[in-house]
Amino acid sequence: MVPSSVRSCLFPVAGLGTRFLPATKEVPKEMIPLIDRPLIHYGVEEAAGAGCREMVFVTSREKRSIEDYFDRSFDLERALRRRGKDKLCQTIAEISELASFSYVRQREPLGLGHAVLCGEPLCSQGYFGVILPDDVMIGDPPVLSQLVSVHEKMGGSVIALEEVEADETSRYGIVRATYSGEGLWRVTDLVEKPLPQEAPSRLAIMGRYVLSPRLFDLLRDLPRGRGGEIQLTDGLRRLLEEEPIWGVTYKGRRYDCGTRESWLRATVSLALEDPSLREIVLDVVRKEAMTELTEC
Ligand code: UTP
Repeated sequence: MVPSSVRSCLFPVAGLGTRFLPATKEVPKEMIPLIDRPLIHYGVEEAAGAGCREMVFVTSREKRSIEDYFDRSFDLERALRRRGKDKLCQTIAEISELASFSYVRQREPLGLGHAVLCGEPLCSQGYFGVILPDDVMIGDPPVLSQLVSVHEKMGGSVIALEEVEADETSRYGIVRATYSGEGLWRVTDLVEKPLPQEAPSRLAIMGRYVLSPRLFDLLRDLPRGRGGEIQLTDGLRRLLEEEPIWGVTYKGRRYDCGTRESWLRATVSLALEDPSLREIVLDVVRKEAMTELTEC
């Protein structure tokens, strides 16, 4: 993989994960497994696939298991080797070799914009990627890589967009944008979680960004916005006054894993795609359907 012009990727992982309680009381949302790997692993693989070499995590007190996950585990590796499980041992060891990892604390959960600002000391060298890991994205090329390509061609910041249903706009940041062809949009305005009747479009921002380091200065001066939090969308709005922001309707699949319902859908979908698991899911569903039919 050729290193890209976007060297660092920031992962804001300091949120409380309230929609997935009680599972997230002690286990960080980002460490909940999807099939056989925690959500955060998918995000880091995506960033590494986009050529990022430095992964920066904005964490909080309860998230130490994320640090441990990306560190070497010599005891476990030794134990696996002793049992002849060399392949598994290699898989475990390779996790820490995906990139270099650094961590900075967000002391209070003051919003996504604030979390991004906390990453400044480790990310201010140039344009940087941002991945929200509870949206798992499967794309070829990786979705962040699609954004990096646009940044390298057009300059400026880039955000991932997806068209949502009209009644869903109040769950996302929504953009006003003009179409430039081939899935590329020139963003002209951004609004955080608008009601359907106030939304400038149905194009929603989806957890992947390539951002200008200038954003840090703008976030620092930002007053608290919606919900008393420092909103990334408000910072991007300020950035738009100075630099272009492009939107990409990315190619790939997105699995929202932020709630137990959406995580369940993601788990079943990925299991159906895996030849070693597909039959298990179908078998459970068939048996369940048979039981319902016989009860009717
Ligand atoms: P969410 O809106 O999904 O919040 O944050 P959350 O806390 O993770 O989950 P819920 O809504 O309470 O269930 C989007 C991303 O921003 C991070 C989260 O960790 C998540 O990756 N975030 C949010 C922070 O790092 N700090 C914050 O203050 C807020």
